[in-house]
Amino acid sequence: MWFYPKIIAHRGGGTLAPENTLAGMRCGLAHGFHAVEFDVMLSSDGIPVLMHDPEFGRTVRGNGKVSETTARQLAAMDAGSWRDARFAGEPVPTYEEVADFCKSNGIWMNVEIKPAPGFEVETGRVVAEWTRRLFAGEIAACIPGVNDATVPLFSSFSFDALMAAKTAAPEIPRGYLVDVVPPDWREKLRALDAVALHTNHKNLTPGLASTIRQEGFGLFCYTVNTPERAREILAWGVDAFCTDRVDLIGPGFAGN
Ligand code: G3P
Ligand code: MG
Repeated sequence: MWFYPKIIAHRGGGTLAPENTLAGMRCGLAHGFHAVEFDVMLSSDGIPVLMHDPEFGRTVRGNGKVSETTARQLAAMDAGSWRDARFAGEPVPTYEEVADFCKSNGIWMNVEIKPAPGFEVETGRVVAEWTRRLFAGEIAACIPGVNDATVPLFSSFSFDALMAAKTAAPEIPRGYLVDVVPPDWREKLRALDAVALHTNHKNLTPGLASTIRQEGFGLFCYTVNTPERAREILAWGVDAFCTDRVDLIGPGFAGN
């Protein structure tokens, strides 16, 4: 079932700090969060970096593609100003930098593998290989059902990326991420040997939530931003969710 934290800061610090940056990670931590979700994509030189959009324009100014930009170039870009002037110059961090930050601060990571179009298999493989290296000690010491949250959990909307991650590092757990739960969710979860289904809370029903959990899978929802809705889905049996409102829904939110 679900052996991980229940309330997770989305993209670092939700909407309070620039997403997928170290400033975002520090913001989540400052609000007491020791569990975070973020998005990982490959640079042109095959380095995993934190990024949601495959093309510039929203969080990083200008035109261009992440898949055509090196990690060194990305590290020199401003991924903070779009949120607030006080974050000006906040770089696009590498996955390694963020994993180091999370490890040294005791933060559990839901690593969303976010491949640029056409890079699904490569991204799943490379992120899995890096994670295996970065968490070698934790993976070796992990006892299922005892200290699972010492090792990151992968998720992805890309079935192919998750299959590639499974092939490269089968010991690192996976959650299948979907907007709408598809009719073949059981087959997909079994093929991935996934521990959980991650889905949009807006498209979930109490009946579906109950079925997924009865079949032995964890159930994670994104992105829940009001305490009322959080209470509602937790009452359905949802195991965990991520939130953009780390100021309104704290890490100790119990749903009552
Ligand atoms: O992993 C949950 C959530 O982050 C998925 O959607 O677009 O925010 O990456 P998105
Ligand atoms: Mg995400």
